[in-house]
Amino acid sequence: MHNKYLAMTPPMGWNSWNTFTWNINEELIMGAADALCTSGLKDKGYEYIVIDDCWSLKQRDEEGRLVADPEKFPHGMKYVADYVHSKGLKFGMYSCCGTHTCAGYPGSFEHEFVDAETFASWGVDYLKYDNCYKPKHINGEVLYKRMSLALRNCGRDIVLSACNWGHEDVHSWIQGSGAQLFRSTGDIQDNWQSVKNLFLSQIDKTAYSGPFCHNDIDMLIVGMHGSSNNEWIGELGACTDIEYRTHFALWAIMGSPLMIGCDIRNMTDAILETLGNEDLIRINQDIECRGPYCIRQWNNPESVLAMVKPLSDGTLAICFANLGDKRGEMSLQFWDLGIPYAANMGLEIYNCYTKENEGKFSERYVAVLEPHDSLTLIAKPVKLK
Ligand code: GLA
Repeated sequence: MHNKYLAMTPPMGWNSWNTFTWNINEELIMGAADALCTSGLKDKGYEYIVIDDCWSLKQRDEEGRLVADPEKFPHGMKYVADYVHSKGLKFGMYSCCGTHTCAGYPGSFEHEFVDAETFASWGVDYLKYDNCYKPKHINGEVLYKRMSLALRNCGRDIVLSACNWGHEDVHSWIQGSGAQLFRSTGDIQDNWQSVKNLFLSQIDKTAYSGPFCHNDIDMLIVGMHGSSNNEWIGELGACTDIEYRTHFALWAIMGSPLMIGCDIRNMTDAILETLGNEDLIRINQDIECRGPYCIRQWNNPESVLAMVKPLSDGTLAICFANLGDKRGEMSLQFWDLGIPYAANMGLEIYNCYTKENEGKFSERYVAVLEPHDSLTLIAKPVKLK
């Protein structure tokens, strides 16, 4: 590998799957690259444009190589990659550790090295690597290790985004595989229940991600507003903008990759504000990549909680979230964060949503949260007097 900083912090970008699934082509991908730039999101740190499943023909060529579908990608993949690169962005693609991808296209099983060569020759910078049709008698760990080695030796820096849905205790071996991110969950759907379930499923796994190997809770549904062409993803019918903001804030503080899944060619101002919130992005991209810890509201622990993440400048990022369906209060006792009131210490609070400094607080900070709402703060330990 030539770039020793490859995916040091969680990757950020856009992926075609959540909204477009099988309905992809060159024009869409190049349009998404344009939109990432013109929307200003590129300047906020989003850099990968990733084509998910359904990009290839159903058969390899006579030499056993993967072939881009000429109807969807008439100029070939290198052309698309070159275009994405010309915008100052990076290009991602998708394959699978099994014999077939989830949508039934050829997978890379036992073709890992030749496929890595193909991806390198097209100018791919990121490979999402799925888990469908994996031969049952084979341990997934060795297959992810295999593709990782193939990519690390293909002559190009390619991030490996392992996607085994948290199976086989992936968090316990993924560091050793060399993959830069690992999907720890099943597929997200464009509804609040799914966001809540995926977040809660990883709340006790925050110690397993860190620089160069990030826990991927799945791609974002922020801004989809029920627009997926896949009924299963759209089931139960979308989120409110408040729920999308809570989803983004939780993914940010959990250190998950921030891969946008909506149609970025058509975003509302509210969605752009959420996806472009520089404070939330800074929390996600903090160089130490520490996992947050959880403090629950003492009299409502199932619904209301705070995630607390130490940042490299000595401050604390704090995300309050109300996962329940009733209005709830979160009172964070500074004692729980290691702040001794008796020693004249308190916290100076900055609000990442209003962008306002709220001043110094002693002993506790209390917020009332509407159902599914959140509040993200940056808190600096200070002397009170
Ligand atoms: C799996 C993955 C999804 C997506 C689809 C494509 O379900 O988890 O993120 O890549 O396959 O078929």
